[in-house]
Amino acid sequence: MQKLEIEGNHILNGTVKISGAKNSAVALIPASILSDDVVTISNVPNITDRDALNEILTYLGANVKIDNETMIIDSTNIENKEIPESISKKLRASYYFMGALLGKYKKVKMYFPGGCKIGVRPINLHLKGFEALGANITEKGNQYIIEADELIGNNIYLDIASVGATINIMLAAVKAKGTTIIENAAKEPEVVNVAIFLNNMGARIIGAGTSKIMIIGVDKLNGCYHEVIPDRIEAGTYMIAAAMIGKDVKIANVIPEHLEALSSKLKEIGTKVDIGDDYFVISKSDNMQGVNIRTFTYPGFPTDLQQPITALLCQCEGVSLVEETIFENRFQNVDYLNKMGANIKVNGKEAKVYGPTKLKGCEVVATDLRAGACLVLAALVAEGTTSIYNIEHILRGYEGLVDKLSNLGAKIKIV
Ligand code: EPU
Repeated sequence: MQKLEIEGNHILNGTVKISGAKNSAVALIPASILSDDVVTISNVPNITDRDALNEILTYLGANVKIDNETMIIDSTNIENKEIPESISKKLRASYYFMGALLGKYKKVKMYFPGGCKIGVRPINLHLKGFEALGANITEKGNQYIIEADELIGNNIYLDIASVGATINIMLAAVKAKGTTIIENAAKEPEVVNVAIFLNNMGARIIGAGTSKIMIIGVDKLNGCYHEVIPDRIEAGTYMIAAAMIGKDVKIANVIPEHLEALSSKLKEIGTKVDIGDDYFVISKSDNMQGVNIRTFTYPGFPTDLQQPITALLCQCEGVSLVEETIFENRFQNVDYLNKMGANIKVNGKEAKVYGPTKLKGCEVVATDLRAGACLVLAALVAEGTTSIYNIEHILRGYEGLVDKLSNLGAKIKIV
């Protein structure tokens, strides 16, 4: 069994280059099959979620070439086959093949997706969207058969501004007859990145990035070249690392506007944050004050950085209140932080972090991707060595984590 071993208390310094966004790439890859030609996607992070999606593409008969971080996907000869549950449950984003295959063939047979167990994570809003476009859905246990004679544009109001549902409905609607309007759509940068990709292929999507997205159906989508945006959550994780134990750490290749919620919180804590056109330079400050965090949809504080920033709050003076409003089960990191010496009390959707506390290395488990990131951060400042188990969760989402942290001066290895 693989584990991460981290010796704490080594100052980070230097530059880390941020990779392409996982949550954008994992939607762009399935979206590519809507094209009737070859698409090239650059800046795709080399993570295991990419490999799982590549496995699905190849299973469907696509011809995929991966050259470093560029993926060339030719899906002109794919077949609309049922994707086996053993592959779809490897990751959450397999559900984007529902929208993409439905949009392309008007029929899809698929199983419930996998992904981090951070809450119930139903897909009712995705299905509601497909139904509004005219699809019939038959549920057999874990399996969904979604089919339509014709997909016809409609107005769809999302009860929750869901990232997954917004993207999946765009994928299903892009070749539908007429106009689809998604109201209360998610505004996350990843949604915008997917809309631009589809428009590059010839789609007509207007308003992505606002809460109302209009999709005017087209008959055909062409090939295109597209670049994945920088990963704001990976960037945020390194920004927090720098705030915890960094000296002039440059976090390069970012879109600073995507990280305003985090950079503002870091400044409120007392961290020194310099913001450039496409980079941050961050150093730990001696006087860090606790702050309150409330997760929210974009541009609010991202739920994906809630667990990572909790590691930093353990190092801040006073009581910090962390409120998780998106997922029901995103405090699984807390038991392990407490095992390392933190003083955090969870009560329902809230956690109170009492700081500062000295953290000590011990054996901990990454229960999910961002919980794992949080434990890596805690280990960087802990006394002694921390062993983190279940690292496959972390490797699903962070490209070259060990190399990137080692280059900054951390003592980290996979054993
Ligand atoms: N929800 C429903 N019904 C639905 C869809 C969502 O009730 O049909 C609820 C969810 O249970 C959750 C809330 O709506 O409580 C928001 O979920 P959303 O659909 O926005 O999340 P997601 O699409 O499942 C993506 C990212 C997550 C990220 C969230 C929020 C991917 C593959 N995953 O998930 O990323 O936390 O948006 O920004 O894009 C991660 O990277 O660690 C991660 C979990």
